[in-house]
Amino acid sequence: MPAPAVRTALPGPRSRALLESGEGLLYAGLAADLAPLVLDRKRGYTATDVDGNVFYDLASASASVPLGACREDLIEPAVAAIRRWGNEDSHALSSPPMFELARRLVELAPDSIDRVDIALNGTEAVETAVRLMRRATGRPLVLAFHGGYHGESTATATLGAEAASISAGDRALGTGFFHAPYPNPYRSPLAPARPGGSGDATVDYIRDELLFHLVDPGLVAGVVIEPILGSGGCIAPPDSFWRALTALCSEHGWLLCADEVKTGMGRGGTMLAVERWEVEPDLICMGKALGGGVMPIGAVLGTEAVLGAVDDLSTGSTWSWLPGSVAAALATLDAYEREDVLGNVAALEAVAAERLAGLAGRHERIGDVRAIGCFQAIEFVRDRASKERDPVLQGAVARLALERGILADSSTASLNLQPSLLMPPEALEVAYDLVAESIGAALSGDAR
Ligand SMILES: Cc1ncc(COP(=O)(O)O)c(C=O)c1O
Repeated sequence: MPAPAVRTALPGPRSRALLESGEGLLYAGLAADLAPLVLDRKRGYTATDVDGNVFYDLASASASVPLGACREDLIEPAVAAIRRWGNEDSHALSSPPMFELARRLVELAPDSIDRVDIALNGTEAVETAVRLMRRATGRPLVLAFHGGYHGESTATATLGAEAASISAGDRALGTGFFHAPYPNPYRSPLAPARPGGSGDATVDYIRDELLFHLVDPGLVAGVVIEPILGSGGCIAPPDSFWRALTALCSEHGWLLCADEVKTGMGRGGTMLAVERWEVEPDLICMGKALGGGVMPIGAVLGTEAVLGAVDDLSTGSTWSWLPGSVAAALATLDAYEREDVLGNVAALEAVAAERLAGLAGRHERIGDVRAIGCFQAIEFVRDRASKERDPVLQGAVARLALERGILADSSTASLNLQPSLLMPPEALEVAYDLVAESIGAALSGDAR
């Protein structure tokens, strides 16, 4: 693979011309958000722009490309399936691979999971899960968490609470959700747990505050949670949280839905992140990496009590489980069986943990660093005592890293590094050298 090499200012002349052509053409919010480059091609963990600049891709298309870009062994089966079946609305007419994929998803999930519903993508999977939770329990309310991201449809944007801007126009319309702070060991406003409580500060807050003052637990269908906060910055709850949360769910008959759209398929170090804590959810949402970074697909995995008992809710949409997407997902699962994906994720986590600890040791303006599998994050602060977030510094680091050939995700509360699960550890070391250089340059006010 070529090394990162950025030879033009960004955007380069060809990228600039294309971006400018989009300014009066594309939705203004999209035009404003686009990175200062236009892609020419992607291969493995590299991306090349139309000016010939080469980047190491540590964004992985919002973590939807698990094993590197443009793998022929994943593309070919998808193309063959499209040639054979074209599109079919899989709600109406099935094809054999659909049954195999459902079986394999049930196999990889915890024992609680018996059945699968089909979805087009992560957003649709979460929408479906919420509707199923309400239908199965007959209760309207769903608890979710500050910092959680679940999509940008009206329902998923308001179920989520990652950044107020995401739900700004929808919050008043997307009713039926209430929120607690995510169990964030670095900046939870709730720690520590109180004596005689649930054993966990977040669950104490839910019990003592939300259920006492705000919401009758009998109105709650259940909880939707990212088992590791993905876009929100690679944050894992403490072990105490899962014990206390599952006890709370059992006590009130709440369904537990794990949104594994981003954590699933190994990014968190295990095939599903809930495996880390041996949590057995009632529902699991999948998407993103399930399609191998080749085709869009989502899924809702669920218990017999939910996906077997509810049979009168129409779910999904026309393109859910397009046969080509199903074929890509099956080929992706095959690749995970053939290749030591999780072994490489562990090696990448070790590289990241060591490099991130070094960075945190050197720079006071780094408040926290986290590495969980191929979720890695750096949280910049104005100072460590106040923990006040420093989006300006974060943006400067992201920009300087981009100029050095590192594509990362700086759209949220931390600089998130999400490499391909198969990136060679040596390449990740090179990437971290460049990130370290960028932090040094940003802190010294150096432009490059
Ligand atoms: C945890 C989580 N859930 C749901 C979604 C929505 O998935 P998609 O945008 O692929 O539809 C995302 C997307 O980032 C996500 O990270």
